[in-house]
Amino acid sequence: MWDQVEVAERDPILGLNEAFRNDPRPHKINLSVGVYQDERGQTPLLDCVAEAEQRLAARRAAKNYLPIPGAPAFARVIDELLWGAAAPAVAERRTAFAQTPGGTGALRVVADFLHAVFPRATVWLSAPTWPNHPQIFAAAGVPCRTYPYFDAAANGLDLPGMLAAIAGMPPGDVILLHGCCHNPTGVDPQPDQWRQIAEAVRRAGVVPLVDFAYQGFAEGIDADAEGLRLLSAAPGAEVLACASFSKNFSLYNERVGAVGVLAASHRDAAAVQSQLNRAIRANYSNPPAHGAQVVECVLGDPRLRSLWIDEVAAMRSRILGMRTALVQALVDRGVPGDYSFIAAQRGMFSFSGLTPAQVDRLQTEYGIYIVRSGRINVAGLTPDNLPLVADAIGQVAA
Ligand code: LMR
Repeated sequence: MWDQVEVAERDPILGLNEAFRNDPRPHKINLSVGVYQDERGQTPLLDCVAEAEQRLAARRAAKNYLPIPGAPAFARVIDELLWGAAAPAVAERRTAFAQTPGGTGALRVVADFLHAVFPRATVWLSAPTWPNHPQIFAAAGVPCRTYPYFDAAANGLDLPGMLAAIAGMPPGDVILLHGCCHNPTGVDPQPDQWRQIAEAVRRAGVVPLVDFAYQGFAEGIDADAEGLRLLSAAPGAEVLACASFSKNFSLYNERVGAVGVLAASHRDAAAVQSQLNRAIRANYSNPPAHGAQVVECVLGDPRLRSLWIDEVAAMRSRILGMRTALVQALVDRGVPGDYSFIAAQRGMFSFSGLTPAQVDRLQTEYGIYIVRSGRINVAGLTPDNLPLVADAIGQVAA
């Protein structure tokens, strides 16, 4: 049978990582996959995580199965992170929850849930979006369409285009919004624009699905939840959220994520919970424990929590520093064009405007790997590699 199998296309992001690993050139630079590196080019083990892991090891707890939706203690701390410490929905038991293998696992659980319960719903994705979004929904049999998001000429948000598209979406469809640090553009709505988006979504009767993979990387843990909270504020609001703790806890290979669902009543939340459980049981049965226990331990301890907030702030400010330094380095080299927008974008990524041909030259001639859409992982820039990157961009953009 296998002679009938065609070779699958390489993943546009993780495939590059693989190509990077196989590249023998010693000066190669990886700015493709969204992984944070410190100024020495290392992905850090956060101090709060190291301490939590020591505590967990000392407990010598048995490795029994978790419940299908995960550990209740993890659900409690994440509900608070998503909906807010004093959110009435939590006290009124209007939330459903699942601890998932990463943010990708969370999206797949939501996709399976939608396919099972609302088979006619379309999921609307921003243009552009993370290339794995359409793959996840397609794999679950959920139809996708796109809405305008990025205004390339202005390097900003196409709010009028987005609002007009939302107004035309059939009620019962789902709109996927990036909670903060839009991937790949780094362009987020301002609070007032979030208000308009929330109002448009409410009027159209579409359900917001917030992909929240970078909480803390734009402005702060709570500030970054503003869009999600505005979408959740209307009475009776129904919201889906998919969170990832890969980046903000630097727990990439532990695969820690969550689905949070806001419902209008406790009955609805319980019904949704039962359907999430069904989707999970048929997919991976119940979630892995370790990474989520680390997150729960950090968030549940006031000292570790404040250490975590500081460590996230340090990652955020290093990225911001690299943004300004990159813009300055391009100016210093007289690279044609105005790259000041790079400093205004938020999160790990910069949508550089480099063309696929320029991206290919960066890789083949300079050993610099970025995603073909022109997305640069700014969180991979360091004081050492930044001059090399600026030189190379200067050459290919000339
Ligand atoms: C990215 O966009 O680079 C990250 O979200 C990692 C991934 O899985 O693609």
